[in-house]
Amino acid sequence: MDFVLSEEHQMIRKAAKDFAEQELLPGVIDRDEHQYFPEELIRKMADLGFMGMMVRTEYGGAGLDTLSYVLAMEEISKIDASAAVCMSVNNSLVCWGIQEYGTEEQKQRYLTPLAKGECLGAFLLSEPEAGSDATAQHTTAQDCGDHYLLNGVKNWITNAGIAKVFLVMAQTHPERGSHGINAFIVESDWPGVKLGAKENKMGIRGSDTRSVTFQDVKVPKQNRIGEDGFGFKFAMKTLEGGRIGIAAQALGIAAGAYERALRYATERKAFGVPIAQHQAIQFKLADMATRIEAARMLVWKAAWEKDQNRPFGLYSSMAKLYASEVAMWVTIEAVQIHGGYGYVKEYHVERMMRDAKITQIYEGTSEIQRLVISRHILQQHG
Ligand code: CAA
Repeated sequence: MDFVLSEEHQMIRKAAKDFAEQELLPGVIDRDEHQYFPEELIRKMADLGFMGMMVRTEYGGAGLDTLSYVLAMEEISKIDASAAVCMSVNNSLVCWGIQEYGTEEQKQRYLTPLAKGECLGAFLLSEPEAGSDATAQHTTAQDCGDHYLLNGVKNWITNAGIAKVFLVMAQTHPERGSHGINAFIVESDWPGVKLGAKENKMGIRGSDTRSVTFQDVKVPKQNRIGEDGFGFKFAMKTLEGGRIGIAAQALGIAAGAYERALRYATERKAFGVPIAQHQAIQFKLADMATRIEAARMLVWKAAWEKDQNRPFGLYSSMAKLYASEVAMWVTIEAVQIHGGYGYVKEYHVERMMRDAKITQIYEGTSEIQRLVISRHILQQHG
């Protein structure tokens, strides 16, 4: 077992760190305050190859492995979790889904521009009444011969306002339950696609989240992904990989807050000495560092399993569950270490605390991860 990163992995990590510190950091408080989506910075991330990291080079991607992706995700998330979720959805839900299950024509037409960052993607599974219970899809895709007619509402959609390519899950054969669901590639400017207002969120406020309504949207049959009825399995397989990305995002939020708390603790004096010399703070720092390292090992393990082409659903759920809980706990402790300064925006950690919360909710709540993990465990047990 070798935990030492290769030179290439170290270079990717450094490139992401440099970009995050030089480009994302300067405006991050302002973007959070005004809910501003940084289109020009996302374009720069694309130029560095961060929007199609695991896409093969023949389709315009960087052709890297999942470990490279989580290393970059951690560094971007340390500074700006909003830019990170945009990157994560594009990479591990949209690009990966099309690369893995799309036709050659779908890859040429959609994957290549997505991987090059010429456009962005969004993943439309959640609905007002289908969040955790993702099989309960009310959006319908009526089979009309050479096309489908799409009707319904999706919500909590990351990248909705700026994405060109939507991956949409919809029910075609209600009598077949999850086996009646299909996945489609829909272009966001097709007639009948309507965007809701930007959600006014607690955290990741620099990302664009909206509902999307479909009213008699005509989707050509060649835009269906996989066989008729493959949509739910497609969504679940894609989310398995997506959860590694969100685990890396949570890890980055935790590590970013910890680094700020550590620096503050060595600079801020109370009772005549830097507060890092007080055992109450030392114990907090020790617990934060330990939990972050444990989360990092789980994230790397999940990435490694995926890169070995081994089943990785158990590890992606474990990584997401644990890293998101670490992110929440560490960011609260980071605010506490900062005292009153932690409660104001200039010190960043209050934003990180708000950003951390979503990692316990999206791409499956902590409760859903526990459900997935326990099913794996019981299945293995026989
Ligand atoms: N891989 C392949 N197939 C899978 C699968 C997987 N990982 N998980 C389930 N399936 C299959 C099952 O085998 C089953 O098929 P059969 O009928 O042939 O046996 C079928 O799908 C139905 O599965 P279940 O019976 O397990 O369904 P369930 O309703 O009991 O549970 C669930 C499914 C795990 C709870 C699922 O609904 C789930 O993951 N919910 C959470 C949804 C989620 O993560 N949403 C995130 C939205 S996207 C997002 O947040 C992106 C963003 O913007 C940031």
